[in-house]
Amino acid sequence: MNEELYPSIFSQFKGEEGELITILLRVQEAIGYISQEAVKRISQFLKISENQIYGVASFFSRFRFDEPGKISIKVCMGTACHVHGGSLLADAVGWDLGITYGQATPDKRFDFQRANCLGSCTLAPVVQINDKIQGRVLVTELKETMKHREEF
Ligand code: FES
Repeated sequence: MNEELYPSIFSQFKGEEGELITILLRVQEAIGYISQEAVKRISQFLKISENQIYGVASFFSRFRFDEPGKISIKVCMGTACHVHGGSLLADAVGWDLGITYGQATPDKRFDFQRANCLGSCTLAPVVQINDKIQGRVLVTELKETMKHREEF
């Protein structure tokens, strides 16, 4: 862990309890999740309990507490994608990786998330693997792609 990370983030704040959400957002931007170490450091900085921090952070679905996988697979479940079979794609990815959305594989290689809209609705259904958007994805194509996932 970069020892400069937390001092660098905290230097932008006054140390007031009302800054908690913004600090959590900065931490998650920086390391991809809210680690136990982060909660401990924030607790010391804001002088509030770790339980309070978990209580607030767990209220918002955007915060995650487990380390994300290195290869990100997002299946869009926005309205356009849902109507065009997004949930079938999500089932295929989940089945293949043996996890459900919101999780990483135990080896932290793959991260599986669902998205509300990936901004490419005309290409529905859409899957994003790392930075690459794939549109009009068929379940059979996705299964084929997942067979070669070690090459991602
Ligand atoms: S709803 Fe899927 S890209 Fe917009």
